[in-house]
Amino acid sequence: MWCCTTMAEPDVMKYKDPTQPLNVRIKDLIGRMTLQEKVGQMVQIDRSVATPDVMRNYFIGSLLSGGGSVPAKEASPETWINMVNDFQRGSLSTRLGIPMIYGIDAVHGNSNVFNATIFPHNVGLGVTRDPELVKKIGAATALEVRATGINYAFAPCVAVCRDPRWGRCFESFSEDPNIVREMTEIIPGLQGEIPIDGRKGVPFVDGQTKIAASAKHFVGDGGTTRGINENDTVIDFHGLLSIHMPPYYDAVRKGVATIMVSYSSWNGVKMHRSKELITGFLKNILKFRGFVISDFQGIDKMTDPPHANYTWSIQESVGAGIDMVMVGYNYFEFIDGLTYLVNNNYIPMSRIDDAVKRILRVKFVMGLFENPLTDLSMAKYLGEQDHRDLAREAVRKSLVLLKNGKSVDQPMLPLPKKSTKILVAGTHADNIGNQCGGWTIEWHGESGNITKGTTILSAVKSAVDPTTEVVYVENPTPDFIKSNNFAYAIVVTGEYPYSESSGDNQNLTIPEPGPTTIMNVCESMKCVVVLMSGRPVVIEPYVSSMDALVAAWLPGSEGQGVTDVLFGDYGFTGKLAHTWFKTVDQLPMNVGDPHYDPLYPFGYGLTTEPTKGF
Ligand code: BGC
Ligand code: BGC
Repeated sequence: MWCCTTMAEPDVMKYKDPTQPLNVRIKDLIGRMTLQEKVGQMVQIDRSVATPDVMRNYFIGSLLSGGGSVPAKEASPETWINMVNDFQRGSLSTRLGIPMIYGIDAVHGNSNVFNATIFPHNVGLGVTRDPELVKKIGAATALEVRATGINYAFAPCVAVCRDPRWGRCFESFSEDPNIVREMTEIIPGLQGEIPIDGRKGVPFVDGQTKIAASAKHFVGDGGTTRGINENDTVIDFHGLLSIHMPPYYDAVRKGVATIMVSYSSWNGVKMHRSKELITGFLKNILKFRGFVISDFQGIDKMTDPPHANYTWSIQESVGAGIDMVMVGYNYFEFIDGLTYLVNNNYIPMSRIDDAVKRILRVKFVMGLFENPLTDLSMAKYLGEQDHRDLAREAVRKSLVLLKNGKSVDQPMLPLPKKSTKILVAGTHADNIGNQCGGWTIEWHGESGNITKGTTILSAVKSAVDPTTEVVYVENPTPDFIKSNNFAYAIVVTGEYPYSESSGDNQNLTIPEPGPTTIMNVCESMKCVVVLMSGRPVVIEPYVSSMDALVAAWLPGSEGQGVTDVLFGDYGFTGKLAHTWFKTVDQLPMNVGDPHYDPLYPFGYGLTTEPTKGF
């Protein structure tokens, strides 16, 4: 009966064998998967609706922490690691034991996490023109993300912000695509440097100290009409390719593991259903081989009102080439909808297999199958001193000196460290939350001393000579100022934290009491204004009253970076990466435009020499 018996060969689980070639592992694993298991891989849900049982029972492929979604207020890194490991054990206990990947908005350091190092937002990093520095920030961020057991960041945002009225302009390195391209060096920082013989477009993540990155938001997020978030980007194909697309060439070339789709539309078509750009351009022309992820409930937002026809949204978005859907919360509905669409041939199995292969490719490449769990010893990287020193350096290089002295021959900066008495004023002088901006601890950020860091006030106190008296009054009256004999004043004010649509602003004025503080102080005495904002704001009416003006953007937790430069330990070097307009009716106005008539042009920035022998 030789003909009809088969030898009971042991089933060799090739996918579990790290010595097997990548494609062999992928093929072996996908060949074993049921539709239910495949669909699960395509789902990402927030940690708040996850449990180890949910991970196991629904084969959930990925988790996220949305803005402010944390295991507990002020949770320690150990608490984070234990949480992620528990979810991961749920995934590992499934039939095939496919590990999940966990994403978080580590957009300026691991910024949801209490006591993490908070780096300057991208708007400041573009000013540095220093890709090597930005790469180091990526590496430090990767370690701080790993310190919480997490292996995936929704960063970098490679938006090319063409209009500062956009609430996310602070997430954009520059209005100039070339600067954004240079700053994609953060990707090899986060993921590791692609090997010389590495293949173009293939995702690359170099082991346990690195994380998967996500270039976002594909594509044209920074070009929406009137800077309205999630709006329509009206531009021809040539314009799209020359302004908004270029950073993706670099991201793909550098092995970015994932790309996140934008909520915005291109010429009236929601990006979440743009088969032309996602499958046609990104996958077929650029040969991107990592996975494409939707934005948070991004497929819901394909209809107006959102979620009006979810089945249609699933069909269009997965059909367009989205591989993993950031579902958010309601995984039942997504799983049922996608399963129905496949079973009834609305979505071909080949599309599902393409999606799942891409997700598995990233997971294999990063060594997740071999090292799915995180050791508690990783916790030590969170907020470590080396990272804070690096952030401080980045702050120094991200400042732009816009004015220095009422006349050129009488510069106000650097400031003397030794004076009898100086004034520090303003809503942002003693406020970590304000200096960090959005995406810090909470989704929108938060005012107040919300995490560890050094405020400008405490940085001033430690920078000056011990004999210098530092007086801090948040919003001093002219009488108070005149009745004191201050040598000079440092006014620190600006925008309050915001993110996404809550940051959209059609007038771009500095909120009160900022302007009042500036005028009360600067009209009464010698002052330097340190402006903290996520973008250029209306400043022209006040500039003539000021002796000096520094654009500090959103510097993050290390306030000494500001005083290092104010007091001349280091020189000012930063150059504007976003045009500083005069009035909002000029907007949009970018370098190269025919109507270009800025207050301070793109590339502007005064310099100072470090004071010798400090
Ligand atoms: C934002 C993304 C972010 C995601 C997850 C969305 O609302 O647009 O940038 O990565 O939420 O928090
Ligand atoms: C989440 C954010 C997300 C936003 C999208 C919030 O509930 O916490 O991460 O960006 O929703 O609208």
